[in-house]
Amino acid sequence: MRPKIAAGNWKMNGTAAALSELDALSRALPENPPQVVICPPSPLLFRATDAVHGCPIQIGAQDCHAEASGAHTGDISATMIADTGATHVILGHSERRDAYRETDADVRAKAQAAWGAGLTAIICIGESDAQREAGETLQVIGAQLDGSLPDGATAENTVIAYEPIWAIGTGKVPSIAQITEVHDFIRERLAARFGAEISDALPLLYGGSVKAANAAEIFAVENVDGALVGGASLKADDFAPILTALAQS
Ligand code: PGA
Repeated sequence: MRPKIAAGNWKMNGTAAALSELDALSRALPENPPQVVICPPSPLLFRATDAVHGCPIQIGAQDCHAEASGAHTGDISATMIADTGATHVILGHSERRDAYRETDADVRAKAQAAWGAGLTAIICIGESDAQREAGETLQVIGAQLDGSLPDGATAENTVIAYEPIWAIGTGKVPSIAQITEVHDFIRERLAARFGAEISDALPLLYGGSVKAANAAEIFAVENVDGALVGGASLKADDFAPILTALAQS
């Protein structure tokens, strides 16, 4: 049985005042909650891990550098993230691939660093609108998967998030058939490289405009094991119903 995981990506939103949302979320968790990972901006990591102490919410970062330390002004390393008590790190989000020209090779090196620090890497992949229109979706996803995942991926150190770029923050959601097609494809591709045992155990999240209103039907897809949620993870009132939908899926 694969774990169900709901990850919240706060992106560049929230100051210390937003930590109260963690408290509210901990009180709103459903019965038999899924694994919940909140990824706040890095200045909040220490306080966030303190805030969730004793409740089943975990904390993650949104990026890391591939090296453990050094002359990299403005960057943070996986070791530093682990030092805060965080357990996860999002890597290769399309906003970073776009704004910082992160390549699959960059993401792969970062994943290796994350594993070295004992973190679970949430590796994001997804096609653009133009790539989907051109019928290249599976080819793009396959290449990103091959290039971004180091050898040695397991269900313990890796989570994959499929996030079509055109669905992020837009309110547009792929059809259930489109989500099913890509998630089935990812599962098969992982099986071909890592073997059926690892592929069957590795959690695959869908991301892009997930909300309480569409969560249940997305979670009903066989190879969807949870979600990576941006906008709807910022407020406990919005995120809690998504957790409930996942718990009941
Ligand atoms: P969204 O973002 O839920 O606001 O569409 C998802 C993401 O970027 O991870």
